[in-house]
Amino acid sequence: MSTTTQLSQFATDTMEGLSRPQKVMLSKYFYDAKGDAIFQQIMAMPEYYLTRSEMEIFQTQKDAIFNQVCPKGLPFNLIELGAGDGSKTKVLLKHFLKMGIDFTYYPVDISQNILDELVAMLKNEIPELDVHPLNMDYFEALKHMEQFTGRKNVTMFLGSNIGNFQVERLDRFLKKLQGYFKPNDKLLLGVDLKKDPDIILEAYNDKPGITASFNMNLLVRMNNELGADFDLNQFKHYAMYEPVTGEARSYVVSLVDQVVRFSELDFEVNFEKGECIHTEISRKYSVKNLNHLSEKCGFVTSANFFDSKQYYVNTMWEVV
Ligand SMILES: C[S@@+](CC[C@H](N)C(=O)[O-])C[C@H]1O[C@@H](n2cnc3c(N)ncnc32)[C@H](O)[C@@H]1O
Repeated sequence: MSTTTQLSQFATDTMEGLSRPQKVMLSKYFYDAKGDAIFQQIMAMPEYYLTRSEMEIFQTQKDAIFNQVCPKGLPFNLIELGAGDGSKTKVLLKHFLKMGIDFTYYPVDISQNILDELVAMLKNEIPELDVHPLNMDYFEALKHMEQFTGRKNVTMFLGSNIGNFQVERLDRFLKKLQGYFKPNDKLLLGVDLKKDPDIILEAYNDKPGITASFNMNLLVRMNNELGADFDLNQFKHYAMYEPVTGEARSYVVSLVDQVVRFSELDFEVNFEKGECIHTEISRKYSVKNLNHLSEKCGFVTSANFFDSKQYYVNTMWEVV
């Protein structure tokens, strides 16, 4: 690698994460075009109850959600963080339009590929919708919040996305977001609830191995984009759930002693047999945990919408 080469953020974060005593990769790097496609397969899996639960809430409680979002019928900005393919959000978007409200939709996602898919789907299914996609990281999106002035802002963070943050990072993020909130602004969070640990674990460790291929795709991405030589047969996916902290954790584990070389980066990593890379955290909450989180970050809960199995909640927050 020449010293003048500009390294991508992916390259920098990979070298930093794999040089730590406990190797780690940021879960935002799951989402290249292949990762996006595998995540869509995950959402369709019988084991991945999260998508069905949130979809049920939107389909059965969209009127109540609308009454929370827009009690006075005033125009608003609808900002969605980590929007993905919008397959559930479109239920709300269609309903809000049907109610005759003037709003602009700003889907934010780090994956340009999934934003392109989302915009194409919306053009086809809801051509009258005013959409402004933003291809950026959540924290970059926060900086844009200052520009969303003049109208009420409704921010959505669906699909249990907040569960992927480390605790301190989530606190910082929510407190910063709270700082931009005006009275009447709303935050709608999609949160996975603590439940039978076996049900949770299966969602991250399905027998057909779709989640395993999602996790292992990180290695494929490093091979393709950073010239790494990960041999997928020498690593395995491992998932566990810890019911006290509510953390479902995913790892990639090395099956042998080995060295992985990154030809594009002049970088190599040693793995001992059994050593792992921590790749994802998906935190589950109790309602009590959530109330504590909202209070700590300066919000109050204005409504909770549960699915019929009480597996999942869409919680609406505001400032007073
Ligand atoms: C678990 S998926 C959920 C998608 C959608 N919210 C849903 O409920 O179906 C997470 C989405 O957030 C995006 N994402 C992950 N980390 C991100 C980050 N740091 N900044 C912006 N987008 C991110 C991914 O590209 C992906 O589309």
